[in-house]
Amino acid sequence: MNLPADFLFGAATSAYQIEGAPAADGRLPSIWDDFCRVPGAIAGGDTGDVACDHYHRWREDVALMRRLGLDAYRFSVAWPRVVPRGTGEVNRPGLDFYDRLVDALLAAGIRPFVTLYHWDLPSALQERGGWPSRDTAAHFADYAAVVAARLGDRVTDWTTLNEPLCTAWIGHLEGRFAPGVRDLRQAVHASHHLLLAHGLGAAAIRANASAPPSIGLVNNLSPIQAASDRPEDVRAAIRADGHVNRWWLDPAHGRGYPADMIEVYGVEPPVRDGDLETIAAPVEYVGLNYYFRQIVADDPDGPAPYARQVPVPGAQTTAMGWEVHADGLAELLLRLSEDYTAPRIYVTESGSAWDDKVGADGSINDQDRIAYLEDHLAAVARAAEAGAPVQGYFVWSLLDNFEWADGLDKRFGLVHVDYATQQRTVKASGHRYAEIIRAHRGAP
Ligand code: IFM
Repeated sequence: MNLPADFLFGAATSAYQIEGAPAADGRLPSIWDDFCRVPGAIAGGDTGDVACDHYHRWREDVALMRRLGLDAYRFSVAWPRVVPRGTGEVNRPGLDFYDRLVDALLAAGIRPFVTLYHWDLPSALQERGGWPSRDTAAHFADYAAVVAARLGDRVTDWTTLNEPLCTAWIGHLEGRFAPGVRDLRQAVHASHHLLLAHGLGAAAIRANASAPPSIGLVNNLSPIQAASDRPEDVRAAIRADGHVNRWWLDPAHGRGYPADMIEVYGVEPPVRDGDLETIAAPVEYVGLNYYFRQIVADDPDGPAPYARQVPVPGAQTTAMGWEVHADGLAELLLRLSEDYTAPRIYVTESGSAWDDKVGADGSINDQDRIAYLEDHLAAVARAAEAGAPVQGYFVWSLLDNFEWADGLDKRFGLVHVDYATQQRTVKASGHRYAEIIRAHRGAP
């Protein structure tokens, strides 16, 4: 694969999905702790109460990363560990946990990529209005300042928010994720305050980190195609592209909110003077999480954006029911590079869930995940050759973990986790990834 010599091979996780220990050392609940208690919200009634118990097993997990030969590790800081009430008092033991983790990663030669928000809003802030309230963006910036002041002498790579689409659209419009709201107006307001939090948070990192930071916003994007040539479907595809891609990329790149989508939603984002400049302040990189493309048909009776995803006949799908389509990754990388002139791009998440089987000898021979990994890395290499400034790839995920509303049943890891014993076993895909990394370095 023709990837840049200094290309980073990494893996990603997030706090709520792996840490467990929800009440340890002063942590208070987040909206996901609460959502997991809503009957029927999570498959199998699972929770993140234990997950991978990474809060206690982080040393072992860093050793695993070292064994895989990772260049970089992308993880998130849990806001409710560091500022348990979301604003006000800082919880030193919570910060200490990430401080130790960063030191251990650096000692293992692994570059830490720190995400400040991966969906675990402190419950106390939800009680004050959550993301539909403008104050939440300001509280986020204060929290970002605290983390940057503590870790920013050693951490250089920062993500403000992970996938604001999921918080705004899935959490506040579809109600399938925390906080489980179904209200278009609240969703649009949440979306603006999330983007504002990105801008304010980036400025707070710059003001508080002592090492020059590289900052980015991470979006989950999908190439969109119309299900047919019917004008209704073609228009649905434009709306779906607005909802999934342009609503997030345009303001972050100085174009403001797409006017066609404001019309589709019938709700104005609550923009105040200076907000759009804050949101569009230059950053060092664009983060892309890619899982699937969307083929859509008109759906006038559905929720905004009134476009329904239709299945692709004969397509291979993962355990999530998502189509495997590696070309979509190359397409998005080129779009970010050509249409949005991204200075540098990281594929901050890419990966797949499969119904892994543990063999009699305890091994996991996940050939589908290996094929997925190789095909997606090849797509990255094609985009790089065509000029996209892509500098790294983070497999989702290092470990099997708590897959939100799908619970513990959907496994994305390069490393299998037996939740009963907490035993970690590197899957065949983990071994293959290690081999790819060694080959890229020219090592035997
Ligand atoms: O597990 C999630 C992650 O938290 C965000 N991106 C998509 C992954 C797979 O659904």
